[in-house]
Order: sequence, then C-alpha cells, then structure tokens
Amino acid sequence: MPLVSMRQLLDEAAKGGYGVGAFNVNNMEQIQAIMEAARETKSPVIIQASRGARSYSQDKFLYHLMLAAAELYPEIPLVMHLDHGNSFETCKSAIELGFTSVMMDGSLKEDGKTPSTFDENVAVTKAVVDLAHKHGVTVEGEIGVLGGIEDGHGAGGSGLEHVTDPEQAVEFVKKTGVDALAIAIGTSHGAYKFSKKPDGSVLKMDRLIEIHKRLPHVHLVMHGSSSVPQDLQDVINQYGGKLKPTWGVPVEEIQLGIRNGVRKINVDTDNRLAITGAIRKVFAEQPEKFDPRDYLKPAREAMKKVVALRMTQFGQAGHASDYKPISIEEMKKFYAGQSAAAK
Ligand code: G3H
Ligand code: 13P
Ligand code: ZN
Repeated sequence: MPLVSMRQLLDEAAKGGYGVGAFNVNNMEQIQAIMEAARETKSPVIIQASRGARSYSQDKFLYHLMLAAAELYPEIPLVMHLDHGNSFETCKSAIELGFTSVMMDGSLKEDGKTPSTFDENVAVTKAVVDLAHKHGVTVEGEIGVLGGIEDGHGAGGSGLEHVTDPEQAVEFVKKTGVDALAIAIGTSHGAYKFSKKPDGSVLKMDRLIEIHKRLPHVHLVMHGSSSVPQDLQDVINQYGGKLKPTWGVPVEEIQLGIRNGVRKINVDTDNRLAITGAIRKVFAEQPEKFDPRDYLKPAREAMKKVVALRMTQFGQAGHASDYKPISIEEMKKFYAGQSAAAK
C-alpha cells in the first residue's frame, strides 16, 4: 500500500470514535518498532519526523525507509507526517519529498521559540494549506503555544501562558482551512511536563472540551502527550541514568480527550525512554557486548511494546482494514472539489 493521506485516517478515526498515535522517528529501528506494533495490533498509523529528525537522518533516507515500511506492511494504512514545520519553505520541501501530511506550526515564529501573532499564524498556515491541498497533502495547524523548551520547540514557561483561546480556534480554522488543529492545554514536549500527577489546574482538559463543543467536526491534536511512565523512568535510573522525578499526561486524560474530538496524539518521549532504558540495561548487565545489534534489538522491542500499548489505549487497534485507503491523487480531487464548493 502506498503512503496515504492523514485526512482520511483522521476522518475514519472520527467515525469510529478513536484516536491515532503519531510517533516520532529518526532511524530504521524506530520505524520497524512502530510497524511491528501496528501489525500486531492491526492499527492504522501516523509516523512523523521533526525538522531535527530530517536533518539527523538526511530526510531522503527516512523517506525511503518509509517506502520500505509501506511495501513490507501492505495491510497497514501509513501516513508520513512532518512534525512542527516552522516555515512555508520547510513544509514545501517536505511536500516535494513525498510527505503525505505536514504540520505548519505557525503558533511560533520561524525560530521555534517566539510566539507569533494570530495574523502571522493565519497567513503562513493558509499559504501552506493552499500549496499542500493542491498536492493532496493534509495540513495540521496549531493555535495556542505549548510550554517548555526542552527539545527546542515551545515558548518556555509552564505551558499555561498561552493556552488556546476557543474563539481564536474557531476563527483560525475558518480562515485557514486546516484539516487538523493542535491546541495548547498545558502540555509541553519532553520528560519534564508536570512536577506531580496533573490535575485540572495544570492540564486544561476543560478547555479542550470547550473547543470541541465549538468545533465538533474538527480533528483535534494533542502534542506533548507522552505519559512518562514510572516503570520506564525506573529502568533508566536503575541502570545509571539520572532522571529527576516527573509526571507526564495520564492515559485516562488522553482517553477523555479522544471522547472529545482528539484524533491525533503525539508521542515521542515515551519511546525515547523505552529505548534508552533497554540500551542501558544491556550496557550495565553485559559490558562485554559491542555489537550494536545486541542493544538495538532490545531497544527496538522495548519501543514496540510501548507503541502497541498506546495503539490499544488510543483505540486505533483493530482498525487497519476498516477502509480502502484513498490515494494522494484522489485527495487532490477531493480538495479541488472542496475549494470549488467554497467559491
Ligand atoms: O516535537 C517534538 C518531538 O519530540 C521531536 O523532537 O525536534 O528533538 O526531533 P526533536
Ligand atoms: P512528547 O515529548 O510528550 O512525547 O511529545 C511529542 C510531540 O508532541 C511531538 O510533536
Ligand atoms: Zn509537538
């Protein structure tokens, strides 16, 4: 099966009332882990690459690994998505390379740190939508700004300074025509999201529910959605790591989101933790080993377990063969029809 459209995956998820995990990758082992988890759980899947991942891997390598994944797992609807595109040019180059979906994160300026104005965000996102839809490519936009700065994305702070304003969200969708909308509800990227189990004072699920009420047909996206499980932290610390106590987003809060319009859930950190723990364990227990396969295999297996669990928890498990994927060529016609109807 060729790489498919994210719009279709999310439309189907909305019909079925489930969410779809979007997992970040930088290399072959991570792609293999996700594809094995998708096969085991019979899940449609979104694989995403950040700008950092594109530069780390030389994105053409990543693209061809994705084509291999699509060929080797033909029963799995598979989307290749750009995570946090910071400019029109970044999104354009991803579309030209063959990504079937892009995120234009215009909530921040091109530096990925400074919050932009609403009008700047609308202008750059709309420009990307116009280009992407001509190519049959899906667009995710973002309104409101994530907290933290740990991995280079985010405006810093607790994440509560720029929680999404519901009225702006409505106007943003109307003005840009995005297919999916990332909102800020107090989460941030990385391991250090919350200093204790989050409650409504720091994780604004009520805000998400309010936005869904105003935009019931828009696919919402939750970023910074790793749960940072204690058991994964423990393995790292048991084998010489130095993670400080921390909390992520509880899975039950994500499931509440899914019941209220969340269709895409971004997870990277949990997989990073699983990989690192597995590698540390081999290094600590078998210091004589030096073949990278001896630690990359357990690392891949550890990531697969986390991804398969999330696929089940998000509800996408079992849905891989519900529908016949629409080709990107057909999506071009779909979007052309949509814009003709709007005129
Ligand atoms: O957007 C956040 C993801 O965790 C990707 O992080 O930019 O370090 O690849 P990265
Ligand atoms: P985590 O750091 O919580 O995994 O979030 C990843 C993310 O939002 C990628 O865009
Ligand atoms: Zn993100």
